[in-house]
Amino acid sequence: MKPKGQSKGVSEWFVRLMILTLGWVLGVLTCFRNSSMNNSAGAIAGGPRTTTSTACSSTALCQPSSTMVTAVPIVGSEAASRPSSRISTEDTATRDAATTTTTTATTTTTTTTTTTIQPLEHSSPHFKANYRRKTTTVSILTDTANPFHRYLSVLGSMDTSKHSEIPLWNSWIHYLEPYHNHMARFRNRQGVVFMEIGVQSGGKIPLLRKYFGPGFQYVGIDINPSTLQFRTQPEDDFSASIEIGDSANATFLEYIKEKYPHVDIFLDDGGHTMEQQITAIQHFLPHVQPEGVYMCEDLGTSWQKIYGGIPNGKTNSPNRKFINETMVGFVHQTMDWFTASTMRGRHSYYAQDIDTISNCKFDCKDSADNPWWKTIPKQVKHIHYYNQLVVFEKGVTQRPTPLQTVGTEIPVGYSGEYDPINWKRILTKIDEAFEAANVEFI
Ligand SMILES: *[C@@H]1O[C@H](CO)[C@@H](O)[C@H](O)[C@H]1NC(C)=O
Ligand SMILES: *[C@@H]1O[C@H](CO)[C@@H](O)[C@H](O)[C@H]1NC(C)=O
Repeated sequence: MKPKGQSKGVSEWFVRLMILTLGWVLGVLTCFRNSSMNNSAGAIAGGPRTTTSTACSSTALCQPSSTMVTAVPIVGSEAASRPSSRISTEDTATRDAATTTTTTATTTTTTTTTTTIQPLEHSSPHFKANYRRKTTTVSILTDTANPFHRYLSVLGSMDTSKHSEIPLWNSWIHYLEPYHNHMARFRNRQGVVFMEIGVQSGGKIPLLRKYFGPGFQYVGIDINPSTLQFRTQPEDDFSASIEIGDSANATFLEYIKEKYPHVDIFLDDGGHTMEQQITAIQHFLPHVQPEGVYMCEDLGTSWQKIYGGIPNGKTNSPNRKFINETMVGFVHQTMDWFTASTMRGRHSYYAQDIDTISNCKFDCKDSADNPWWKTIPKQVKHIHYYNQLVVFEKGVTQRPTPLQTVGTEIPVGYSGEYDPINWKRILTKIDEAFEAANVEFI
């Protein structure tokens, strides 16, 4: 599918300039009208936020700040942009709160009302500064074999001002490849259950329904009660359930597991703190179906202090602490246990033998968590580490068993004498062997 062209270069900048200007004009008008509007509902739906005012005093020129820019519909949808869930429950409490401040300027007796609507995003100033998302750059969505690319190239070029009822979805482009790599085999399978932490603006729901087909079941977990709006109705041909709670709350996660015993694919795109990510994987990796998939994204937070991460590798940095306490350190430990069978230089252990592991090359003893870790080789078949995203494919590695074909073995340290090989003859022989065995080699 050829992505629809999108105005770029000069015209794109012109559009941006117009948006900025419009934002400024709106800001001025807002200040002069002394109006305040609480439009958080629009923001929650991922739709346009029509007006957000900023502080301006009557004695100074009413300057729209960057917040003003988000007031314009097309940019306003960004207010509900990255990241997928809030970092703390505090945000839930303040999310909808429109804090109103009334400033009376003594010199001119003009009263100015300032309304600040808490955007649906992290409390981290870092995110607010950096996630002023632009419109989707359709031209980079070149992997037309990937439905996620196709979805974004169509829905990323639509006009938000005309389609604000469509829930917004945003993602990093490099996540689209792992998504399709690990979820494609579930497509059009009846009743696939996809559970995720971090519903945010709800936009992944219609995408996944289109991807998996009718009968698809979505279970979303979020700290924001507004996401309850995304639950399906009886007339829908798929089901979406929403649960409100924090992924660092073990009691809550136990409740979720009991309520949803079957999960095929799990994605942690929640608040991204170390506590949340590690609590979630401890609970849900074992909970996912034996041939299912567990994914956790935005792993860069393992190095960021505001998420409980630890800047790692600097002089005198506590690397062992990084391994103990961060999500990426946790992934490292899953690899320790995953590889325990071979790290002594021989394939001495198999998944089941992990229970009797005695002489390993890492801290495999004396930890209260050992029973959990020992399940890793028994339930994980592959660990894929993408940039910022880890995928655990569930299953069990086959017992390490040596295999070999016919032929002559060249010993290690062979003298170097040889006759030139005749590949044509060899390949013919192999073809004949397949014919004789009546086996196709595709
Ligand atoms: C944790 O979850 C349980 C069950 O949903 C809830 O009753 C409890 O209040 C939550 N705890 C916190 C600290 O939010
Ligand atoms: C890391 O965890 C291990 C096992 O629980 C513990 O023995 C060790 O003291 C911890 N190290 C650091 C630096 O936190």
